[in-house]
Amino acid sequence: MKVLILPDAAAAVATAADHVEAALARLPAAVLGLATGGTMEPLHAALAARHREGRLSFARARSFNLDEYVGLGADDPRSYHATMRDQLFSLVDFAPGATRLPDGAAPDPHAEALAYEAAIAAAGGIDFQLLGLGRNGHIGFNEPTSSLGSRTRVKTLAASTREANARFFGQGKAPPTHAITMGLGTILAAREVLLLATGEAKAEAVRAMVEGPLAAVVPASVLQLHPRATVVLDAAAASRLALGDYYHLVHPGGGPAAV
Ligand code: GLP
Repeated sequence: MKVLILPDAAAAVATAADHVEAALARLPAAVLGLATGGTMEPLHAALAARHREGRLSFARARSFNLDEYVGLGADDPRSYHATMRDQLFSLVDFAPGATRLPDGAAPDPHAEALAYEAAIAAAGGIDFQLLGLGRNGHIGFNEPTSSLGSRTRVKTLAASTREANARFFGQGKAPPTHAITMGLGTILAAREVLLLATGEAKAEAVRAMVEGPLAAVVPASVLQLHPRATVVLDAAAASRLALGDYYHLVHPGGGPAAV
């Protein structure tokens, strides 16, 4: 795992955007794995800004998002479909039909999960996967005790995850109880992954992911097995890491910000 520690969230987001830009420069027709969550919002904004500036084109790329809530159709404003449309897809130049998320309104969510995994395989697999990190160590919606070899499937959401995500649902409205999510095995099969985590609330999950044992109770620790995983952190998210010597402290505009 390459761990990059930036002084603040804005610098961490810019570094993550640099990696996406570099991936698309290397491979304009990349299959991207995309993510949602509060952490991704400024990253999506940065990618849209770089597109407006002519630095970044998604015209030949395709994308698969990590997950979607079961029961929310693409037109539901709280769905990840709507989030991605608002934050990124409507602001950049993906070709029509080039972006995909699991269909949360599918009559048979289990069949939809299998079809989604098959569609990723048919696209040749994911070249570059973006990830956020749940406070309980989840990635996608792979909650603690998820099988480390799991593939896209329906998962029950932890109460703590529903609580953390309630802010996106408005007062008195709880998030759905289930989601369709890429599995940990699906994520591990991506050729390159980049996890972005910012803020003190993620510090314990970051410590367990990077320095703790590989364990299904910390799903993100599966990235210890990935040959090309980069973890981009701000100082707050990195604040509980003990093995400081092993990490790259990156100063924006200089330092070993290897992309
Ligand atoms: C959701 C998403 C995850 C994301 C996590 C963290 O649960 N399914 O993919 O990593 O939220 O969200 P945030 O960035 O809002 O803390």
